[in-house]
Amino acid sequence: MTDLNTLAEALRQSKHVAVLSGAGVSAESGIPTFRDALEGYWSKYDPEQLATPEAFARDPELVTRWYDERRQKVSACQPNAAHLALVELENWLIDAGKSFVILTQNVDGLHQRAGSKDVVEVHGSLLKWRCTKTNADAPNLPMPFPTYPMKSAGGGFLRPGVVWFGEHLPEDAVSRVESAIEKTDLFIAMGTSGLVYPAAGWSEAARRHGALTVELNRDPTPLSTSFDLVLRGSAGEILSSLVSEIRRG
Ligand code: OAD
Repeated sequence: MTDLNTLAEALRQSKHVAVLSGAGVSAESGIPTFRDALEGYWSKYDPEQLATPEAFARDPELVTRWYDERRQKVSACQPNAAHLALVELENWLIDAGKSFVILTQNVDGLHQRAGSKDVVEVHGSLLKWRCTKTNADAPNLPMPFPTYPMKSAGGGFLRPGVVWFGEHLPEDAVSRVESAIEKTDLFIAMGTSGLVYPAAGWSEAARRHGALTVELNRDPTPLSTSFDLVLRGSAGEILSSLVSEIRRG
């Protein structure tokens, strides 16, 4: 039996599937990952200069411009084969009376654009901005922004709705993650380097709750040896093959 067959069989046997997705899932849409040495965001920029509340307070123009450019870029990208295969998996599992949730570290909205219904954005969203003073969400944002930084109606600035280094994950996301981890019997981490906590700890938490854990990633990660099953390769290719395998029955 190949690892792909094993995963397909695990999906058939499971009742509550949870997926943790990372930047590798959006890579085939043309969105750079964070840590890939040659192409990742953090190889070109210092996160401390851009992805912290202090960076925004120090230089709101630079930080707003950087996030607005990323917002424009992801808006111009399309969901890829991995996103689309996850929609098929969700539909197939829901039709069989099972549950399926995607816990995504990605802030690009591509899972939702592809059609996935149950998506928890654990690191927030690049497409939603809010006032630094009132925390009110800002609707109908122009693209691109006409000025950097953007003044908000509440008297502050607009900041991206992403989780910066040093900030807590959104409370509602954390509680949805906790209930997903408690009930999942199959946890699949895909396209994530397993370096950023708390998300990096969720596969282990799911395993403690009795789930089978699977890593699907192009490269080995520090967590690879702790998974029950590891599939190595591109998320788009593996997930498309998985859907074909499941369709074969
Ligand atoms: P990383 O850039 O750290 O890791 C991406 C992983 O995807 C790597 O392990 C690659 O091997 C793998 N990969 C790349 N292309 C792939 C493909 N086509 N198919 C499968 N795997 C592929 O991204 P994340 O783990 O998502 O946080 O990073 C986690 C967090 O770090 C991000 O959410 C962000 C960043 O700081 C915040 O902004 C809060």
